Amino acid sequence: RRVAILISGRGSNMAALIRAAKQSDFPAEIAVVISNRADAAGLQKAAESGIAVEVIESKPFGKDRAGFEAKLQAALDARGIEIICLAGFMRLFTAEFVQHWYGRMLNIHPSLLPSFPGLDPHGQALRAGVKLSGATVHFVIPEIDAGPIVMQGAVVVRDDDTPDTLSQRILGVEHRIYPEALKLLARDQVRLEGDLCRTLAT
Ligand code: GRF
Repeated sequence: RRVAILISGRGSNMAALIRAAKQSDFPAEIAVVISNRADAAGLQKAAESGIAVEVIESKPFGKDRAGFEAKLQAALDARGIEIICLAGFMRLFTAEFVQHWYGRMLNIHPSLLPSFPGLDPHGQALRAGVKLSGATVHFVIPEIDAGPIVMQGAVVVRDDDTPDTLSQRILGVEHRIYPEALKLLARDQVRLEGDLCRTLAT
């Protein structure tokens, strides 16, 4: 399966996916990394790993989401992409784009969804006083951080955690579960059916 990773920044999840996909038994190939920001640090990491990179700036499109998505879709089509992994991609999609990629687009979020969607999930978790937090890989639906869950991993929240220390601990889980979730999707072992993620017998 040909995969595109979409990033806007650091790209540590992207790097974890690239690393995993280099294993000979991995069922997917990272065909391209696309950033909507030219200054995304992840771009250099991807290029150093020998992965094709593209920048499609979203800023010039302003509120014209469909215009940006048309350019993005053309790039994805040109490379025969079948699966999209969002990895710190900070731009919302239209319902039309999401529908086009129904069941074929994953995102990762650093909380145990449905708790703490959106911005500052680590701060939200600390303020709520939860004793466990973690990361969630989910199918993308039009509502932000709300899609059917593919995989989760948990960490213990310590009394002295700050958003920084908690995010570092959760990041370790993210890097472990995102490649595993992509593996399941690429092998057709998970499927989006209506509003549910169905796990098929392996
Ligand atoms: C990660 O915490 C991810 O869960 C969230 O944005 C962050 C991106 O980090 N969606 P990175 O760019 O993968 O290092």
